[in-house]
Amino acid sequence: MCGIFGIVVKEEQVLGGTLLEASRRLAYRGYDSVGCAVIDRAGRIDLRKDAGKIEEVNDRLNFADMAGVRGMAQLRWATFGAPSQPNAQPHLDSDGDLVGAHNGNIVNHVALREQFIASGFTVRGTNDGESCVHAVERYVDQGDSVVSSIRKAARDLEGDYAFVIARAGAESPDEALYAVKQGSGLVVGIGDGFCCVSSDLPSILPLTNQVVRVRDGEMVTLHHDRFEIRRVEDGAVVDRESELFTEGMDAAEKGGYEHFMLKEIHEQPKAAEDLLHWLSASPHVDPFVSSIEAARHIYFVGCGTSYNACVLGAALFNRLAMKPAVPVLAPVFRETFAHTLSSEDVVVLVSQSGETKDVLNALNSARGSGATILGILNVLGSTLMHASDHYLLLACGYEISVPATKTFLNQTLLFYYLADRLRRTGPGERWDDVPSRIEETIRRTDGFSQEVAALLKPFHEMYYLGYGLTLGMAMEGALKLKEVSYAHCEGMLSAEFKHGPLSAVYDGYPVLFITAPDDAKMMINHVNEVTCRGGRAIIVGREDDLLRKSAHDYLPLPAVSHELSAILAAVPLQLISYYMSVSKGHNPDFPRNLSKTLTVD
Ligand code: AGP
Repeated sequence: MCGIFGIVVKEEQVLGGTLLEASRRLAYRGYDSVGCAVIDRAGRIDLRKDAGKIEEVNDRLNFADMAGVRGMAQLRWATFGAPSQPNAQPHLDSDGDLVGAHNGNIVNHVALREQFIASGFTVRGTNDGESCVHAVERYVDQGDSVVSSIRKAARDLEGDYAFVIARAGAESPDEALYAVKQGSGLVVGIGDGFCCVSSDLPSILPLTNQVVRVRDGEMVTLHHDRFEIRRVEDGAVVDRESELFTEGMDAAEKGGYEHFMLKEIHEQPKAAEDLLHWLSASPHVDPFVSSIEAARHIYFVGCGTSYNACVLGAALFNRLAMKPAVPVLAPVFRETFAHTLSSEDVVVLVSQSGETKDVLNALNSARGSGATILGILNVLGSTLMHASDHYLLLACGYEISVPATKTFLNQTLLFYYLADRLRRTGPGERWDDVPSRIEETIRRTDGFSQEVAALLKPFHEMYYLGYGLTLGMAMEGALKLKEVSYAHCEGMLSAEFKHGPLSAVYDGYPVLFITAPDDAKMMINHVNEVTCRGGRAIIVGREDDLLRKSAHDYLPLPAVSHELSAILAAVPLQLISYYMSVSKGHNPDFPRNLSKTLTVD
């Protein structure tokens, strides 16, 4: 969801290739416009930008030959202003000696834009990133230094954002690049003869693994040989050491798979192993569990896939820990629950990225209530991580593909692990076996999943039904199918189907049931309600004779516990979506209109 990158080098050189490569590395976040700017030693700005995909725009504008000592690149995903050349970033100020680009949202942009126009500034587009540049221009024009102007501008800008800016012009030579972080990600990279800054690590790691994390409310000044972090509020310089990032970039490569999505599905056994290892060794687990144990009310809050994990997590808590937890869609949280929160309550915010704006809004609505804020996230250093009283990591490494796969499986495993620790009934899970069970599920269901994908492909709408623990799984399977195949699929409770949607069934109409062992008897009724009306029942679940006899197609899962069986169903559902997407000629890694990290309202 938008991304910025900037670099300062010692000697004048062709920077276009570096900017282009950085843009490609940011592309997984989703975008519809791309732009680059470089400043040469004489202070001239070369700005090229347009709406479109990186390669198309590059074919037209040839970023690769842009040369200078400072450069920046931006990928934009439209929120304020249509995808167009003037709205693409970076932006210039009125007289063209400031150039900058942002990521995030400036929520008071419309009011600011009116002020800038009334002051006679040259405002070229309707995008909020342009407001960042004019906000700095306002103070530079009054004679403030660039650092002071940026600090003052940051106080005028409302919202969650990060921006990068540079001053050019022969009259006031400046060799630095500046960046501000206020709510969106920002990381600095330190290399031999250069410093760079980016929204996230994948665009920095090919250049250097010496990194510095910038925090909210801070700005950074980059020179080719040094950096300086200071607080926006009072200008105080912050002493922060760089750190060596040791996880290799191979994590961001496809490793022989055609798509990241398929690679990430196959990485699930390893991701589960890493999660279980992290949980067994981490000092974060006990305080997290104790907070939940002591709570009066527990809320599991997330969006999209993370919300579906919350639905399954709440069912696991009810079943094993005898602790009721309420799964809540993040944008619903404030109005429905936040006003009644107290210090006895716990809000568990679940987000792969840790940057989803709807989730951060829910978090902000819980602040001040005294409730304990717990985070479950995959991205270390994310806003959610810093804002939580305690957090747990999903330990999945990079997830590049827009559809969440391994992070979802680990979210559900993490909920199961927590419920298992608080378990009041039954034997505990055989956790050591879990990674190999996931491996076995991939092996056993891959071929069947291809067959089911072929069977479903001609249908433009269908249902996935679950019951008990598999309700959240049915919702997730349906979301995944919609996301990458563009077919409509509704995930819902199988017991509810007869209360209305059953009328959709006709001869051959496909309904996919996801069942866990203890619910097989109940599910047989729901399956028969569909098949006796001519519907085609496809069942995903542990082997069961009666269920098999009721179904047209059966996708068997390994013989594991009721709880693990519900979780393992994620694997064939992911594979069905993947194969359907590819067979329709779509790119499952980057579904149209979607973005990996949704940092907007
Ligand atoms: C998942 O496949 C989707 N891309 C989407 O629903 C996602 O789960 C949602 O936007 C929440 O993201 P988060 O986990 O990073 O908060």
